[in-house]
Amino acid sequence: PLPQAFSVPLPIPPVLAPVASTADGDRYELVQREVDAEILPGFATRLWTYDGVFPGPTIESRRGRHTTVLHRNELPVPTVVHLHGGRTPAASDGYPTDLVLPDGWNGHGGHSMADDRAAVANLQREYGFPLDQRAAMLWYHDHRMDFTAPAIWRGLAGIHFVRDDVEDALGLPAGDRELPLMIADRAFDADGQLAYPSVDPTLTGEHGVTEPYLAGVLGDVVLVNGAPWPVHEVDTGLYRLRILNGSNARHYELEALADDGRALPLVQIGSDQGLLAAPVRHRSVPIAPAERYDLLIDFGDLPVGAEVRLANRLGTGRTADVMQFRVVRAGERTPIPETLADDLPEWDRSAAAVVRDLAFRAGRMDDGRHGWLIDGLPFDPARPDVTARLGDIEVWRLVADVHHPIHLHLVGFRILSRGGAEPLPHDAGLKDTVALRPGESAEIITRFDGYRGRYLFHCHNAEHEDMGMMANLEIV
Ligand code: C2O
Ligand code: CU
Repeated sequence: PLPQAFSVPLPIPPVLAPVASTADGDRYELVQREVDAEILPGFATRLWTYDGVFPGPTIESRRGRHTTVLHRNELPVPTVVHLHGGRTPAASDGYPTDLVLPDGWNGHGGHSMADDRAAVANLQREYGFPLDQRAAMLWYHDHRMDFTAPAIWRGLAGIHFVRDDVEDALGLPAGDRELPLMIADRAFDADGQLAYPSVDPTLTGEHGVTEPYLAGVLGDVVLVNGAPWPVHEVDTGLYRLRILNGSNARHYELEALADDGRALPLVQIGSDQGLLAAPVRHRSVPIAPAERYDLLIDFGDLPVGAEVRLANRLGTGRTADVMQFRVVRAGERTPIPETLADDLPEWDRSAAAVVRDLAFRAGRMDDGRHGWLIDGLPFDPARPDVTARLGDIEVWRLVADVHHPIHLHLVGFRILSRGGAEPLPHDAGLKDTVALRPGESAEIITRFDGYRGRYLFHCHNAEHEDMGMMANLEIV
């Protein structure tokens, strides 16, 4: 029942309006609920959503303006909300056992009943985000212990922008010329329902996926903002693409191919944690789960009527296509700024208080099943793993067996090296997720800034995360 490529218009997620605003903050409310939505033309697909839409509504915050989001859970299972990339006090960071329980819940959330009761007394939860951080594209998604992957797969993900004056001063493409693009692959059954190989499809008892999917769940349908291989009409101007890989496990290498055979340059102006110092031109960009790219693309040399395919060099068959831009009218030419932000942190390795080695590899979990381990151990909420001092600079040397996109909560970091060599051009800027390639090691440097408390680091292949590859990061 799959549609023809480039026939469904690109949806843009609605921007959420605050329910209340004061001089220094905004308050929002979201209801997590099931809906039946048309993703494949002619089919109603059951989704888990924030406020009835997938992706969830986009939240727009100004740097330093306090954002409060009240989440109410009307889904059949407990949930947890994490703002990915947010510099957030621990109580609002969405620790995997800090559950928002559904009304009438009496099951268990993948751990003991005692934990459930202790974790949350309420059926709703208020998350507070100071957002005192650089302008960036963040995203919010489910983070429940052991069940993050199937919850995101069912639709629990949305975009959250932080804006600031540094960004505003650059006059970058805005409004209709700034496109949030959440790319996520999914698989569907013959009835148009999402197919996910959970060992327990109720998502209340046994976690994990069936044996053949241990490496991560891939879909054969590429969705952008919830639409399969969509098309978007543009003019001959400069556009800003805010790209998020919201897939559970799929990596892409994106390129923009015009119908005259040319590849349009993708001009990277930002990374996970905001603007670069200066633009970097790419022929194609690799993007792992949870990574973001801020790209400028200029349709100015193309005639009206031209078509540009956003393609995936790592795909085969239909996963080699992502979406299409159709040039439908002449537009204004705007220049690409030569310099961007001058507020990127520069940390020197000689300033590091600690250097840590961390290995990300396959192994067996406590129950003997195959899973994914950090330094030989599967995630245990009760075990302190890394303890870092607030304010310290640390270097982490990471090593992987297969592809692992490694994400740290709370902080952004710089990539110092890859495979013992200089980082790659797309590693520029401030990151919160580093895509380790098979057999690769990488060094990252950060300063543990912000708040004390219990945070996490983990692989953002969502199946790896649910099957052990997560650890506690305690800031003291
Ligand atoms: Cu995108 Cu721990 O999360
Ligand atoms: Cu992994």
